Amino acid sequence: MQAIVFTRRGGVTTVRRAERSVPVPGPGEVRVRLRVSGVNPLDAKWRGRADDLEYVPHHDGAGVVDAVGPGVDAARTGERVWVWGAGWQRSEGTAQEFVVLPAELAVPLPDNASFELGASLGIPALTAHRCLTLGEGGPQRLGPGALAGRTVLVAGGAGAVGNAAIQLARWAGAAVVTTVSSPEKAVLAKAAGADHVVDYRAEGAAEEIRRFAPAGVDLVAEVNVAQNSALDRAVLAPGGTVACYATVDGEKLVLDIREMMMSNFRWQGVFLYAISAPAAENGVAAVSAAVADGALRCGAEAGLPLHRYPLDEVVAAQDAALDPAVIGKPLITLP
Ligand SMILES: NC(=O)c1ccc[n+]([C@@H]2O[C@H](COP(=O)([O-])OP(=O)(O)OC[C@H]3O[C@@H](n4cnc5c(N)ncnc54)[C@H](OP(=O)(O)O)[C@@H]3O)[C@@H](O)[C@H]2O)c1
Repeated sequence: MQAIVFTRRGGVTTVRRAERSVPVPGPGEVRVRLRVSGVNPLDAKWRGRADDLEYVPHHDGAGVVDAVGPGVDAARTGERVWVWGAGWQRSEGTAQEFVVLPAELAVPLPDNASFELGASLGIPALTAHRCLTLGEGGPQRLGPGALAGRTVLVAGGAGAVGNAAIQLARWAGAAVVTTVSSPEKAVLAKAAGADHVVDYRAEGAAEEIRRFAPAGVDLVAEVNVAQNSALDRAVLAPGGTVACYATVDGEKLVLDIREMMMSNFRWQGVFLYAISAPAAENGVAAVSAAVADGALRCGAEAGLPLHRYPLDEVVAAQDAALDPAVIGKPLITLP
C-alpha cells in the first residue's frame, strides 16, 4: 500500500511516498481502508516540532473497515467509518491507504454522509462539541434542544472548528452569533447557519453583538483569546464561559480578577486530546447523531469549502491548513 512518511532528524524533515505492507489489526483493533484523509492546522504545526521521529501524518479520515482484530465484532467488516485521533501519540496516521487503530477510533459513518464529510469531522467537530458543552449547567452531550435558550458566540465562524461550532450549536437549539473578518467569510458563516454575523475588526463589534444578545452571550467558542479577550469580556453574560481552544506559543492572557469573580466568568482551556474519556464519548456520539440528522455538513453550501489534494501533495495540503488565505478544509483523496 502507498503511504506518505515523514522523517524528522536533526531538525530536518524529509517526506517520501513509500510502498509498505498492509498492516494487520491486533486485539481490539480494526483496519480501515481509507478513502479520504482530513488535514488540520495541527498537522502542519507538528511537522516542525517533533524530532527523531518517523511517522505517517494526519489524525482524521474516513473509509471502510476491511479487517478486525481479536475481540472486535466481525460484523464491523464492511462498515463505513469516520476516524479520529489516528495519529495522536501513534506513528500511523491517515495519510496512507490502510490504517490500523483502536476500534473505538473508527466510528460508524451514517449512510447519508460522504467520506469527505467523515474526514472533516474528527478534530474540528469534536473540539467544537467540547467547547459547546463547557457552559454552566452543561449539557454534557449535545442533541436537539440541548442548548435551547442559550446564546453562543462563535469566534471565527468561517474556520473549520468555527463552522462545526455554528452547525452543532444551531442543531442544539442555541441562538448563534459569530465573528468573521470579511464579507466572503460572512457568507460562509451564514451558510453554516449563524443567526447573526459580525465583523470583529469593525468599530463597535461588541455593541453589535450586544444588539443581538442584549443579556449577553452564555458561551464563547474562542479561536483567538489573546486578541479577543476584551471583546469576549464586553459581551459575556454573568456566569458566562469562554472556551479557549487555540493560541500561538507564548501568548498570555491577563484577566481582571475582580470582574471575573463578580461576574462568575470562566475562562476554560480546551485541548481535544486531553479531554476526559466520557467527554470524548459524548462528543463522538453527538457528532454522529448530528451527521445522521443532516445537521452537520461540509462543502461551500454548508460554509466549509473543500480543497482536494492527491496523496503526493500532503505537504501542500498541510500548508493550506495553516494559510490564512485558504478558506475551508483541505482533504487528501486516497487512491
Ligand atoms: N485545542 C484544540 O484541541 C484544537 C483543536 C482544533 C484546532 N485547534 C487550533 O485552532 C485553530 C483553528 O483551527 P481551524 O481548523 O478552525 O483553523 P482554520 O480553518 O484556519 O480557522 C481559523 C479561523 O480563525 C479565524 N480567526 C483568526 N483570528 C481571529 C480573531 N481574532 N477573531 C475571530 N476569528 C479569528 C480565521 O479567520 P480570520 O483570520 O479571517 O478572522 C479563520 O477563519 C488552529 O490554531 C488549530 O491548531 C486547536
